[in-house]
Amino acid sequence: MKKELVISKIEKGTVIDHINAGKALLVLRILGIGVGSRDTVTLAMNVPSKKMGRKDIVKVANKFIGEEELNKIALIAPKATINLIEDYEVKRKFKVKPPEFIEGILRCPNRNCITNSGEVITPKFYIRLEGDKVVAKCYYCNRVIKNVDECVV
Ligand code: CTP
Ligand code: ZN
Repeated sequence: MKKELVISKIEKGTVIDHINAGKALLVLRILGIGVGSRDTVTLAMNVPSKKMGRKDIVKVANKFIGEEELNKIALIAPKATINLIEDYEVKRKFKVKPPEFIEGILRCPNRNCITNSGEVITPKFYIRLEGDKVVAKCYYCNRVIKNVDECVV
């Protein structure tokens, strides 16, 4: 018998699939879904996946999250697939693509960076892919950040 783990399908909304194992909570943080949120969210962490070994899944019901916002997920889950669901069917499927430039989301790890000086300055970063790894570079101090997921605010 083939056993499969099933999380309920949703009638409509946004499914973020193929998230790197263990990163679902960071995905929620990037999407601004946290304490006090009223969205209906289901999530699975470290479930078996044919393509990835293990993966996380996030489903946000009744909400079509914008592509620009979804692309920010690529910072920590470059293989994520977005499925927009209507009437229980996948109406649109696409892969996230990292933005070339972001404001906020990360903090610069350089203590001497002006963004850590106590002044009110929004951190900004250039983003690029090295193979399938995301690398950020601080707009202000040029610090190169390879451990992007450890720098998510
Ligand atoms: N999904 C859902 N509710 C629906 C339809 C789909 O939650 N009404 C979810 C599925 O559980 C899956 C994702 O959306 O996590 C993509 O669905 P589908 O394209 O049917 O699955 P796969 O073919 O396995 O997707 P892929 O090829 O992207 O791996
Ligand atoms: Zn910096």
